[in-house]
Amino acid sequence: ADENQEETDEAEAEGSSSQIPKEGGEKSYLDQLLEDQVRMDNSEEIEEMLLEAKITDARAEKEQSNKRLMEAIELYKDLLITHGDKLNASIFKEVAERCIERMRFIGKFKAAVKIHRLLIERFSDEPNYPNQLAVTYLLGNHLSEAKLILHEILMRWRFNGFALVHYGFVLKNLDKDYENAALYIKEGIDSNEPGTQDGRFYFNLGDALQRLGKNDEAREVYKKGAKIGLFLSEHQRSLYNVDHLKSTPFWTKVQTTYKDDLMEIQKYWQLIRDEGLKLLSEDGRFSNEAENLKDTGDWKQFELFARGRKTKHCMLAPITCQIIENFDAAATCKRGQVKFSVLHPKTHIHSHTGPTNCRVRCHLGLKVPEKTFLRVADETRSWKDGEWLIFDDSFEHEVWHNGTGLRLVLIVDVWHPQLTDLEKQSMSPI
Ligand code: LMR
Ligand code: MN
Repeated sequence: ADENQEETDEAEAEGSSSQIPKEGGEKSYLDQLLEDQVRMDNSEEIEEMLLEAKITDARAEKEQSNKRLMEAIELYKDLLITHGDKLNASIFKEVAERCIERMRFIGKFKAAVKIHRLLIERFSDEPNYPNQLAVTYLLGNHLSEAKLILHEILMRWRFNGFALVHYGFVLKNLDKDYENAALYIKEGIDSNEPGTQDGRFYFNLGDALQRLGKNDEAREVYKKGAKIGLFLSEHQRSLYNVDHLKSTPFWTKVQTTYKDDLMEIQKYWQLIRDEGLKLLSEDGRFSNEAENLKDTGDWKQFELFARGRKTKHCMLAPITCQIIENFDAAATCKRGQVKFSVLHPKTHIHSHTGPTNCRVRCHLGLKVPEKTFLRVADETRSWKDGEWLIFDDSFEHEVWHNGTGLRLVLIVDVWHPQLTDLEKQSMSPI
């Protein structure tokens, strides 16, 4: 900003002595003067635009107004697109990066791509800018676009750690190419470059290795992740956490502090079961689990509450929803769901970890055949009809149905009992 400040000061000085100087016969000098004048008017105008954009941005933040933020974004955009060539490198970068950050914040990923392109064009020797574009694509869930740009980066900067971890991430989640995903993420992590020591990459590397059957290697990754503070522990690998919450793989009703509510719900387990079974008997009600966690078999769910709200499915399951509605810790749990979950015989759910330590996951057994198992960390248990099986799904867990007949449970996520009302209110939903 210093540079522009100087120009503004000069322009002011100029204004007070703008007559043609005595030596005015020298044309080149006059021309120079006029040129300077134009340049300075320009820079003054730009200085003003920049100021207006920044003030609008600051007001948007203070007022928490998205409308105002859109105004600020328009101002930044106009400045960058129409007058970008008149901004010096450091101001251009600063404005463009802020603009992108604000666009990401408000979910305008497509608009952000344009600004990324400006940066990439102007600073074509800096891998950081295409890397940031890839991040925007990932935030917008455009994995194929991210893959393309990351591939380009690696063609030119083969050892760029940031690109390596992100490319591996895409290979895993878009292509399910666990072999190469593991190679790239590992190489990226080992580079130790900024942006590579991130729980998401350790998480995905370990997961890719587990899918390849390389469990010992996965363990090492998890141990290191826990050691450098990216995971709560080797087994507890959720990434959206509140610190210092009590954690243990399996819980008792008493430990949750919701024993009375849980017992109350339990009284109606047969009603809940019958409602679930009726929905199951109607084709197409349940949907396949969508997170690529299933290894073999068939696993479907019917969601009743999500992000602390009822879903429209409640119209089809009025009894169960009514029962849950009276249970605040579940009905308001913004970081969890309430859902029927059905497993068919010969189903195996890969070892996996939930996203947050802010909930405790309570399963009400509704129809439980023999030979169905849940492993959480180092311990394996089974469900029982009409009984609660309570665990913390931020710990690694794995499920098997090796028996006959379907297994039906009601999954009820409840707030972790140690969270304060303020924490619960201010938490982002999951
Ligand atoms: C899980 O949370 O992944 C499983 O417990 C789901 C299920 O239906 O058992
Ligand atoms: Mn799970």
